[in-house]
Amino acid sequence: MIFSKRDLPELDMTKIPQSIAIIMDGNGRWAKKRGLVKKAGHKAGADTLERVSKVAEKLGVKHLTAYAFSTENWKRSDEEVSGIMDLLRKYLDDHIRRCKTESFRVDMIGDPSRLDKDIQEKIITLENLTKEKTGLFLHIALNYGGRDEILRMVKKVGAEVENGTLKAEEIKTEDIVRNLDTANIPDPELLIRTSGEYRFSNFLLWQLAYTEFLFTDKLWPDFTGDDLKEAIYEFQNRDRRFGGRNGR
Ligand code: IPE
Ligand code: IPE
Ligand code: MG
Repeated sequence: MIFSKRDLPELDMTKIPQSIAIIMDGNGRWAKKRGLVKKAGHKAGADTLERVSKVAEKLGVKHLTAYAFSTENWKRSDEEVSGIMDLLRKYLDDHIRRCKTESFRVDMIGDPSRLDKDIQEKIITLENLTKEKTGLFLHIALNYGGRDEILRMVKKVGAEVENGTLKAEEIKTEDIVRNLDTANIPDPELLIRTSGEYRFSNFLLWQLAYTEFLFTDKLWPDFTGDDLKEAIYEFQNRDRRFGGRNGR
């Protein structure tokens, strides 16, 4: 990134983005560079998510949506997929165990139906145990794909039309939004993607319409709380016009 630690600028605490999305990419390359197996990279990536979410909470971010496993990631080897699923089990168990002393609220977006039953149950347990928490709301995208989410939304809206609760010609933006997985998440103001890839890889296609993007070459396991602060600093210096002129 652009600053050295020494000159990390002061953030405007009145302008902290309330909703941030992260594409946590680069775990595989991080492991390869160290001669480690892929699972070690994913483990380091999960630890990074822990650290970064704590910093986000301290800064006052309300929603953090993290892309953990896409609908396309099933194409990877059985060994890698089951390694990721085992780490996910451990992540969920750790949070379930620690939830009494933690302030995070956690839920998932994506289609849970393809995940193993025990993982689905752990997700529901953690969602229920943390639903009264008022700290950071962490949304983990698992078996998530933007197109899949839109397809599932269209089916739900279609069912409402079919059963007569909604008229096709009266469908509004709100009807779409409330049927997306992200119904309870404000559209991200800032999206961060690590590992030097400049694409969204099917993440939040509807929700990113006016999001500010920040790409960094750092691999996800190397991403730090200071990198998050820097990303927010850059965000605070963007001119968000939403198609208007903002006094220009
Ligand atoms: C992101 O890291 C995590 C997942 C997609 C599950 P990658 O595993 O994609 O890391 P690279 O892109 O191979 O380095
Ligand atoms: C995006 O990373 C998905 C996650 C971070 C979970 P990928 O590594 O799967 O994306 P591509 O294949 O490089 O586009
Ligand atoms: Mg990748």
